[in-house]
Amino acid sequence: MEALGMNAKQLAGEKAAEWVEDGMTIGLGTGSTVYYTIEKIGEMVKNGLQIVGVPTSERTRIQAEGLGIPLTSLNEVEKIDLTIDGSDEVDASFRGIKGGGGALLREKMVADISDTNIWVVSSNKRVDVLGKFPLPIEVIPFGYKQVANKLQKRSADARLRKTEDGDIYVTDNGNYILDVYDQAFTDPAEWQDWLQKVPGIVEQGFFLGIVDIVIAASESGEIELFESEKS
Ligand code: 5RP
Repeated sequence: MEALGMNAKQLAGEKAAEWVEDGMTIGLGTGSTVYYTIEKIGEMVKNGLQIVGVPTSERTRIQAEGLGIPLTSLNEVEKIDLTIDGSDEVDASFRGIKGGGGALLREKMVADISDTNIWVVSSNKRVDVLGKFPLPIEVIPFGYKQVANKLQKRSADARLRKTEDGDIYVTDNGNYILDVYDQAFTDPAEWQDWLQKVPGIVEQGFFLGIVDIVIAASESGEIELFESEKS
């Protein structure tokens, strides 16, 4: 990871920790930006902050446990006060694509019951039209090729995600991911509706109408805050 890029992620990530208050139940997102939020929360917990976290991935659970952050599971909570997560892209209407780190399903379930959702991003994730970043689609392994065929019939360049070693990437939920490349999603809601009707798709990476606050940091050190009207 280059030093300048890391700096923007750290700035955005740490800034979000300012929203964390004593007594809160906090959704802990996944990725290299929210990593810094979680490190900061770990520091705050060591200094006496009392919160309980709901991790959105095994990776995050391991990090948070290592920092001594008390954790619970989604089944144990009534609601979540605040979730802080990263995003792969976000547009001016607060619509985003998530799942680059493969945690989209748990991230969406956690976000769904959160009073407030904050995304931490480096400024280059802000886009005019979603789709420069591949859209992740979580599919069950059974018959996943039929889902890929349906996408291809819609002229979508859907590719099965692989690990660096060339193995099929498997999510924390035991599913596969199809990534749709180079598609300009001018109408993400229409795509979302279509995807939700395809059998075998467990979740798709559009996060529409979910985020309340976006914290974007640039490599030059500037932090910008964007609040959606729903917040
Ligand atoms: C994981 C995600 C991440 O939040 C997203 O990929 C952003 O990650 P990063 O901060 O590493 O760029 O959706 O499923």
